Amino acid sequence: MATSHWSHVPAAPPDSILGIASLYRNDPEKKKLNLSVGAYRDDNGNPAVLRVVRKVEQEPAPDHEYIPMAGIPSFCQAAVQLILGEKAQSIKEKRVVTVQSLSGTGALRVGAEFLCQFYRPAATTEKPCVYIPRPSWGNHRKVFQSAGLKVSEYKYFDPVSCDVDAKGLLDDLTNIPSQSIIVLHACAHNPTGADPSKQLWKQILQVVIQKQHLVFFDSAYQGFASGDLEKDAFAVRMFEQSGIEMLIAQSFAKNMGLYGERVGALSFVCKDSSVVASVQSQLETIIRSMYSSPPANGARIASRILNNPVLFEEWKQELLEMSGRIQEMRKLLFEALVSRKTPGDWSHITKQIGMFSFTGLNVEQVRYLREKYHIYMTEDGRASMAGLSRETVPLFADGIHDAVLQFSLR
Ligand SMILES: Cc1ncc(COP(=O)(O)O)c(C=O)c1O
Repeated sequence: MATSHWSHVPAAPPDSILGIASLYRNDPEKKKLNLSVGAYRDDNGNPAVLRVVRKVEQEPAPDHEYIPMAGIPSFCQAAVQLILGEKAQSIKEKRVVTVQSLSGTGALRVGAEFLCQFYRPAATTEKPCVYIPRPSWGNHRKVFQSAGLKVSEYKYFDPVSCDVDAKGLLDDLTNIPSQSIIVLHACAHNPTGADPSKQLWKQILQVVIQKQHLVFFDSAYQGFASGDLEKDAFAVRMFEQSGIEMLIAQSFAKNMGLYGERVGALSFVCKDSSVVASVQSQLETIIRSMYSSPPANGARIASRILNNPVLFEEWKQELLEMSGRIQEMRKLLFEALVSRKTPGDWSHITKQIGMFSFTGLNVEQVRYLREKYHIYMTEDGRASMAGLSRETVPLFADGIHDAVLQFSLR
């Protein structure tokens, strides 16, 4: 028998987030706690389906035909209005292209493919480089690299203040080559939960304009971060109002709880409407060769919610409930650590926004929590606040307290 064609293939290293999730699944302990994956859980620790989604699901799909390569038009239009605002000048002037995508990741990947094929900064003959924040969502680097783009980083986080390193960020964006591609998290930065202030967003925009950088916004948490769809779109809208060209990846995984349905959108805000048809046709060509056309079910659900004023209000209410529960978990965890007199300043837990807290725990402490307490979080110290409940906060606080004492004693 000949040996396999694949005998030379090395095993790929496990994904830093999904690898931890699989360790969790294999742990036989009953009281284990998974804070590694970014998925909302209710106060009983169970996955939640939004009531408004259940309502829409009562009406069966009209058919299971293919949908267009660019997706469902009513979904695309509503998605881009949600992020840019209904009165956005670029929408009025018909200089925005939006295609449906396989959630946020698919939007980033199709956008990356387009940039690799067509972005030709005049300032250099080299391949365009994408700058992502340090740290960033673990998949950013892989998504852009696999499209053939070079990836580098700009400073983002100051571990001492547990906040955005404003000076480092502005310096880096000023010192990198002009016309670079900059990835900005629209809100609820993952993994740090630290967002630029309004003032800092304005300064970032000034540097972007001055250096003619091309911005690629990643919006994975609109409405889920603060509970307010408008507030979470502040940065994207301010950039759009300045008239610059940009790309936007949107995900409806978290804010509609449609994780596995893969609902997202990729938009190009262009300088003028004359390029729209060409950009649209090339995006469709990329989509055709990658997966032909996107899935229908999730986008149909999202489209109905976004386009029906009654359902839209119901959705907004549920966004408030989800974001409120996460904020409450932050508060309870902070109070639990303070009441245990756990060494350190834990105020960043309540200051940070969104699904995650960048706890400040180091690798040893994270591993200790996993081994002794069966609490799973990523090794950079990121914990999903959405995975906590009233019942599990005390366990997590006990674990942190113990881990901090163990390792500060060494
Ligand atoms: C910053 C960021 N971008 C994009 C995504 C993409 O998620 P999805 O592909 O599930 O929409 C995530 C998910 O965790 C994220 O945190």
